[in-house]
Amino acid sequence: MIAPTEPVLSSNSATPITQFHPDITREALEEKVILIVGGANGIGASLVELCCHHNAYVCIGDIDSTAGASLSKKCRDKWPVYWDPSAPPKPPRSSFQETDVTNYQSVLDLFDFTFKTYKRIDHVVVTAGSMEPKENWFDNALSLQEVRTVSYAETYLLKDSADNDKPPSTRDLDVNLTGTLYVVRLAGAYLRHNRGPGVDRSITLFSCAAGFKETPGVSVYQAAKHGVQGLMRSLRPYFISPYKHNLRINTICPWMTQTHPAVTKKLCDRWEDEGLPISSPLQVAQVAAGVIVDDSLNGTSMYVEGGRAWEIEANLDRLEPQWLGEVPAKTLAQGQKVLKDAWAA
Ligand SMILES: NC(=O)c1ccc[n+]([C@@H]2O[C@H](COP(=O)([O-])OP(=O)(O)OC[C@H]3O[C@@H](n4cnc5c(N)ncnc54)[C@H](O)[C@@H]3O)[C@@H](O)[C@H]2O)c1
Repeated sequence: MIAPTEPVLSSNSATPITQFHPDITREALEEKVILIVGGANGIGASLVELCCHHNAYVCIGDIDSTAGASLSKKCRDKWPVYWDPSAPPKPPRSSFQETDVTNYQSVLDLFDFTFKTYKRIDHVVVTAGSMEPKENWFDNALSLQEVRTVSYAETYLLKDSADNDKPPSTRDLDVNLTGTLYVVRLAGAYLRHNRGPGVDRSITLFSCAAGFKETPGVSVYQAAKHGVQGLMRSLRPYFISPYKHNLRINTICPWMTQTHPAVTKKLCDRWEDEGLPISSPLQVAQVAAGVIVDDSLNGTSMYVEGGRAWEIEANLDRLEPQWLGEVPAKTLAQGQKVLKDAWAA
């Protein structure tokens, strides 16, 4: 069991609206070692380039070895590392290790590889994600016969296939949630290793607007992203505990971001017709980098729409007496204190 949540510090929790303005100075990322799991494509790839541009060292772990190796080479060529020839050589600007985030040993190998290459890890980011919108686990049209065999999508797509006795896919859960759990467990140990108190270290997780808001048709993905939010909330009072170690954990919750132009074109066109905002991968990466470099941020969730970010956790806390009711909010606070004391004992 882990201690219940303390009131969370956010960028400016005293004020009701907490728009977050990332402030990424060159010095803040200079020579930091950043592990980006899922960094071969999309938002993660933009973050890899942004960090390298600011003179950080970046290790990419991803299942897509073609894109990952090619991005790593691009970063090494574009932002080479220089050092005094009389001094020991510096590590490469960027490196890549093929990693399947759903396999614990594979994630462990990635941490070992990063630690061996760079001798320390300062920040860990998980952008690896999966969304299989074709497969609606809970389709209202599912018959008794269909739930006995395969998922709705497979019933139609694989009608004659020998795979017909497969259970529905748990990939969205495995990649988005189990993968994140594996990375965070290992990150906790590796970020603490050999570092004294007061050194800033962080874990940044990728949730989604679907991590706090219902989204039609992607229930397993949504459950996984709620899980990512829950994981961050459970660890934010625990990892930061200053007398043990000083480790921050935050989530980024992007809304529509144009990372797969071909796939999302139809939706994006409709989005634009409605005048709704779309973020670019770089804009979301800038928010993530802003969270990585701001050592005051722990336990925050940055909702990102149209490139702008808002911190939502402080408002959830602040407004609890309104959305839960004053009496239950008070009783809940009392119970949380008992749980905390029981944990401490
Ligand atoms: N694009 C959006 O509109 C949007 C919106 C909200 C949240 N998000 C979240 O942001 C994150 C990044 O999204 P994106 O659009 O850049 O995604 P993307 O698909 O472009 O990139 C995801 C990366 O994860 C990697 N990956 C997938 N399975 C993996 C596995 N088993 N092991 C290791 N790596 C694996 C992929 O190879 C890819 O490089 C995801 O967590 C996603 O759920 C995206």
